[in-house]
Amino acid sequence: IVDVKGGPDEGLDRLGQTLVVKGWVRTLRVQSSVTFIEVNDGSCLSNMQCVMNSDAEGYDQVESGLITTGASIWVQGIVVASQGSKQKVELKLEKLLMIGRSDPSFPIQKKRVSREFLRTKAHLRPRTNTFGAVARVRNALAYATHKFFQENGFVWISSPIITGSDCEGAGEQFCVTTLIPSSQEPADSLANAIPKTENGLIDWSQDFFGKPAFLTVSGQLNAETYATALSDVYTFGPTFRAENSNTSRHLSEFWMIEPELAFADLNDDMACATAYLQYVVKHVLEHCKEDMDFFNTWIEKGIINRLSDVVEKNFVQLTYTDAIELLLRSNKKFEFQVKWGCDLQSEHERYITEVAFGGCPIILRDYPKEIKAFYMRQNDDGKTVAAMDMLVPRVGELIGGSQREERLEYLEDRLDNLKLNKESYWWYLDLRRYGSVPHAGFGLGFERLVQFATGIENIRDAIPFPRTPGSAEF
Ligand code: 4AD
Ligand code: MG
Repeated sequence: IVDVKGGPDEGLDRLGQTLVVKGWVRTLRVQSSVTFIEVNDGSCLSNMQCVMNSDAEGYDQVESGLITTGASIWVQGIVVASQGSKQKVELKLEKLLMIGRSDPSFPIQKKRVSREFLRTKAHLRPRTNTFGAVARVRNALAYATHKFFQENGFVWISSPIITGSDCEGAGEQFCVTTLIPSSQEPADSLANAIPKTENGLIDWSQDFFGKPAFLTVSGQLNAETYATALSDVYTFGPTFRAENSNTSRHLSEFWMIEPELAFADLNDDMACATAYLQYVVKHVLEHCKEDMDFFNTWIEKGIINRLSDVVEKNFVQLTYTDAIELLLRSNKKFEFQVKWGCDLQSEHERYITEVAFGGCPIILRDYPKEIKAFYMRQNDDGKTVAAMDMLVPRVGELIGGSQREERLEYLEDRLDNLKLNKESYWWYLDLRRYGSVPHAGFGLGFERLVQFATGIENIRDAIPFPRTPGSAEF
């Protein structure tokens, strides 16, 4: 008796074997002579079709109506060739055991339900085809990410989740106030527990960390400290942004992959980003065939061709200045007016990738320094910085990266000009005092990668438990 996970590979080569499968009932069809039960254990998209005659052990549970959609069962049977067109083999049941009943109120029945509805059932949505497939592809992308960097000599670094510094300098951090409750006060009155100074301000010196602390927006600055010691490193962990954007591409909590390359410039950075994206996309196309076919049919028609192109083609590189000219020449009416120095909006990004370059990833480089973060290296023109963004169709900005300013005087000037508190970056500045090297890196939003690789329209469906403004259930 072989205890298997279901799976498309459990096929004709197993004819005659006795298998045990444990999973959840997707559908049940009771006919006069025979009963069909489709079981899924999450290992793959396809269900195991079980065929049960009334003389099999445990048939009384079918008769008494206990086996319903959503119930968990244990079955044992012999693999036989299937008469049906949907599968090559099926399991002729010898024995069925009910493990856990499912109440008739189980909200995920066979009929198709909207993804909006399923967001309100985030605890049950992994039982659907779509969310099972997304979870498996997300897992494959994470695995391929580590594989790519490990094979290329990068060291994985855990960057902290709680931090005292603001990597992006954009003030979009969630503050960690360590409300020190004096007793079991209800949550609403916890505010009273925050230590205050005489004039009513928060007294941070009395708080847990002795100073304001935040959830990290990016692990980059920490990664830089290790890149200037171990050479190439990467982080892969959760990051948080308190930006009030209710869009299909923004989450308040998302995972980021941040490689940091020592002795490297912007060209090395762009080459790494391209090789990385091609590697993980290829991995998914090769290892998640069944799920990708599902996305190709039900979520985004043609996604497999689109992704195959990504693996094979070189990505176009364009300076920001050239992109602005291209947008101005396009004669298209944009909601946000285009002029040199403006931050590109998603309508502009979409035009560039989807219209101007026919659906290929594009790398834009050399952005005006005014719209980019303090740590980016100034170019010789004095106006732009060595920044790069990778834009992809449907998603827009997938990657943001740059060569870092390794020259102490330039970095100090930049912090002063932006009125950022130089003292709080003292350790970051130290890296430029002691053996500074040219270095570069990028950040890739993992959920945007999941969107890109699956065709899922809304980023809320690319992460198991989405956090967005006004929503932190489950
Ligand atoms: O462009 P960003 O802000 O760059 C950084 O944080 C750098 N420190 C990265 C680095 O150089 N190490 O963010 C990087 C990427 C974006 O391109 C986007 O894919 C994703 O992170 N991202 C978000 N994803 C989901 N929800 C949000 N609110 C996001 N904000 C950024
Ligand atoms: Mg960015």
